[in-house]
Amino acid sequence: MWAFSPLQLALKKAGCLFFFKIMLMKNVDKLGVGLLYNAALPDYLAANIAHVDYVEIIPDMFWSDGGRNAHPRFVELPQWRRQLDWLAERVPLVAHNIGISLGTMDHFDKGYIHFIKEMNEHYQFKWHSDHLSFLKLPTSGPHDHNAGIAVPVPYDEDYLEMIGKKIDYITGQIPLPFLIENNVYFVEYPDQDYTETAFINKLVQASDRSGILLDIHNLYANSINQKIKSKAYIDELDMSRVLEMHIAGGNEMNGTYMDSHAGPCPDEVMELLDYAVSKAPNLGGITFEFHESYFHLLQFDGLNRQLEMARNTWNKYQIKSLDHELA
Ligand SMILES: [Fe+2]
Repeated sequence: MWAFSPLQLALKKAGCLFFFKIMLMKNVDKLGVGLLYNAALPDYLAANIAHVDYVEIIPDMFWSDGGRNAHPRFVELPQWRRQLDWLAERVPLVAHNIGISLGTMDHFDKGYIHFIKEMNEHYQFKWHSDHLSFLKLPTSGPHDHNAGIAVPVPYDEDYLEMIGKKIDYITGQIPLPFLIENNVYFVEYPDQDYTETAFINKLVQASDRSGILLDIHNLYANSINQKIKSKAYIDELDMSRVLEMHIAGGNEMNGTYMDSHAGPCPDEVMELLDYAVSKAPNLGGITFEFHESYFHLLQFDGLNRQLEMARNTWNKYQIKSLDHELA
């Protein structure tokens, strides 16, 4: 639940907005290490729920969307809803949306936002997120076109204003931190007004309740395909607003490194995670993502190993920050 302490309320009243925002970020639960839920996980989680501190879910996976004019629009898929209820009784949940399409101009599906709002009222997510990209193109019918891949947005003034307004609406409707995830991309727009880090910083610093979901594997993929300097990117990003990190594996296709969530994380991702966590004082969780079709590369032991490595990094810096607070 999002609640203000007396100190935070006093700071807000006194107009100390900068400090107020810092306090808001510190209010986020420190969950630990989690998994992004997928269809390969029910048996694993039934036997290993003690190995995860939280589960991140994609809300769309548990309901079917009948389209804008349908009543009711979102219809539950009973077998999946039972899984979700089982999880909710055992671990905190975090929502990872895929349907907002923040980057689509002239399109904002408020019905989808209200669906997330109702889900949150029932499941009490710790925070929720979506990608800094566009996925949907509106049609005159009940369903949008879906690009099937998160397409990056141009980092310019028009997009900054448009996405900022959407974030204001989302955070006004749903009383949770809303995180924006950095995207993977294969081509770059020419003549942009901002670098990616400057664009993200400006977006999240304009809102009390928005933060960053730093996908370490996306950054790693961009460092290979686009020659992005990963550590410089982290140094430029407002790490005080990073509340969650994603880690994953990928594979190469015709000379391009793909963000395919293909099994275990490369060593370089774990090394970059360590660097990023060391600079993220308000981090609430590290989530391992994999696509269910690669479960055979992990199995139960492989999943436990990925979680264990992430937990070692989590513990290393949580213990350090605790020492610092006690000193
Ligand atoms: Fe991700």
